[in-house]
Amino acid sequence: MRRVYMDANATTPLLPEVMEAMRPYWMEHFGNASSIHRDGQHARTAVDRARETMARFFNCHDAEVVFNSGGTEGDNTAIFGLLHPGDHFITTSIEHSAILEAAKRLAHRGVETTFVAPQPSGLIDPVDIRRAIRPETRLISVMLANNETGVLQPVDEIGRIAADTGIFFHIDAVQGAGKVEFDVRRIGCHLLSISAHKMHGPKGIGAMFVRRGTPIEPLLVGGSHERRQRAGTENVAGIVGLAKAAELAMHSLDDGTIYRLAGLRDRLEAGILQSPGTGINGADANGKPVARAANTTNIWFDQLEGEALVIALDMKGVSISGGSACHSGATEPSHVLMAMGLDKNRARASLRFSLLKTVTEADVEHVLHVVPEAVEHLRALSPVAAGTLG
Ligand SMILES: Cc1ncc(COP(=O)(O)O)c(C=O)c1O
Repeated sequence: MRRVYMDANATTPLLPEVMEAMRPYWMEHFGNASSIHRDGQHARTAVDRARETMARFFNCHDAEVVFNSGGTEGDNTAIFGLLHPGDHFITTSIEHSAILEAAKRLAHRGVETTFVAPQPSGLIDPVDIRRAIRPETRLISVMLANNETGVLQPVDEIGRIAADTGIFFHIDAVQGAGKVEFDVRRIGCHLLSISAHKMHGPKGIGAMFVRRGTPIEPLLVGGSHERRQRAGTENVAGIVGLAKAAELAMHSLDDGTIYRLAGLRDRLEAGILQSPGTGINGADANGKPVARAANTTNIWFDQLEGEALVIALDMKGVSISGGSACHSGATEPSHVLMAMGLDKNRARASLRFSLLKTVTEADVEHVLHVVPEAVEHLRALSPVAAGTLG
């Protein structure tokens, strides 16, 4: 059976060039980058080169790049590394759990958090961020692109607010990186987190931009790796893979790949929206989508259970995600969609299609062929449609 993977925001496969770049660093060039012998120096050179690439990717100085294990670690480091008892933290109610759970933990340690809610479109209004500022506010953290809706947040404006008020600013760019241009100097943020596996690199590796002079405490202590900002023997192959993925991502932003991706996403979306009882999560009051990452659309389907559609599509060879999380057997509606004001049923009946940049027209056609069939079939069976499920 033909399989089409449309869950790129969960993770992406390695591109062949990434695999090839990494391969030698597991085998012949296996050295520890801290060793002074030739094997070690070979690894050190690879890490240094990767750091230069990441500095271009972020538009920062080499010394401002810190390699780590991915988005969760970057997000946690920003929060635990900067906030102390008595500080106030501003974030949004649509962040990833790596931010939300870290904020919850700090609540027990005397750090209060304001969770700014989005507009119904999924956009955070910078005015709401400004309003939440108090004298003791030390950090603002806002994501670049939402993982469920793809909605791009106004980080430039929030960066100006942070600069005006002297507050540290962290961006979770895990879902935006490689899909949209960004530049840490232009935005003026102090910290920014990315993860390789969301951009065709390996899992378990990421990087953080840490603006020079930002007084951040490391999460991990031990050796003096990463200028004492992140202890632990460098994952050399992972770092090389991340840098290769970043290099390819920069090309994709330049050579029209991302533009083409947006076109295919739009075609998919328009096709699905022809089914009755559907709509976009991430649109303004007139139903016009707001600015989103090129690969993502989140669609509600009235009168059905999102989870049932995920399973039905999986059986037809299509991998997608619902925005809901499964906690102890019960499907919880997505916190992002609920924060945008959707009711529980609509939030549960919403699905995320997130396309790989390697997606083909034939993939989109296949999905457009199977989705309406599956939707009609499920609606015919659905207790939601029959009005027996509250
Ligand atoms: C917006 C966002 N932040 C952080 C993370 C966590 O990244 P990682 O899987 O590298 O820990 C994810 C992963 O889904 C994400 O979508």
